[in-house]
Amino acid sequence: MTTVRTIHSSERCCNETWEQAFTRFETPSQEVAKFHGRLSWFGVEDWPQDAEIVELFCGRGNGLIALAELGFTRLTGVDLSGDLLAQYTGDAQTYVCDARDLSLESNSQDIAIVQGGLHHLPNLPQDLERSICEAKRILRPAGMMVIVEPWDTPFLRMVHAASASPMRRLWDKLDAFQVLYENEQQTYDNWRARPQEILGILDKHFNAHRQRTAWGKLFYLGTPKP
Ligand SMILES: C[S@@+](CC[C@H](N)C(=O)[O-])C[C@H]1O[C@@H](n2cnc3c(N)ncnc32)[C@H](O)[C@@H]1O
Repeated sequence: MTTVRTIHSSERCCNETWEQAFTRFETPSQEVAKFHGRLSWFGVEDWPQDAEIVELFCGRGNGLIALAELGFTRLTGVDLSGDLLAQYTGDAQTYVCDARDLSLESNSQDIAIVQGGLHHLPNLPQDLERSICEAKRILRPAGMMVIVEPWDTPFLRMVHAASASPMRRLWDKLDAFQVLYENEQQTYDNWRARPQEILGILDKHFNAHRQRTAWGKLFYLGTPKP
């Protein structure tokens, strides 16, 4: 690894309200269970156990915990929020760093995973291009890029309609969802409005092997294009 770039707190993407709602939205064990389900869909059972895996935008690191529970040991986590990263208690190496400017060596990782981070990027499409190029740079040629991000499906539109209504008061998770939305609305709406542009950037850098949109999410697994 090269030197870690520590981000000044003023560069954080998410405010305290957002981080509190994020904690309220799902318990760590619910989040870990969710990640197990996703990893299974991506074929994690076939991934080599000695794979070097980096989770970008890893937040509290529950994706890393799910990977460790599956037996992976060569794990790295990257997030812009030192506060969220400080909540992680596992054995992975973690870095407070910007996914648009990674302090990891080129060709050093077998798998890069992003779950719900790219839609926080403030400046699309440039920031997405930078982050995807950085992920590709740190991946080995036969590596894999795994992405799960919000996607504007009918289900997601229905959830937004419910959370914007008084129904949110009936279910704490729905209320937390609405608070998250209100605090990331600008980047989130910008992300949701650009499906073709986003898929175009992924297609420019990766060959898609698994891709689907369901339940308000894009699920994507690609290998780097030469
Ligand atoms: C919705 S959370 C997802 C966290 C985790 N992947 C999960 O699913 O629980 C988005 C995360 O992206 C991080 N983030 C936002 N912009 C970032 C950037 N430019 N570089 C690295 N992390 C960033 C935030 O600090 C936050 O932890």
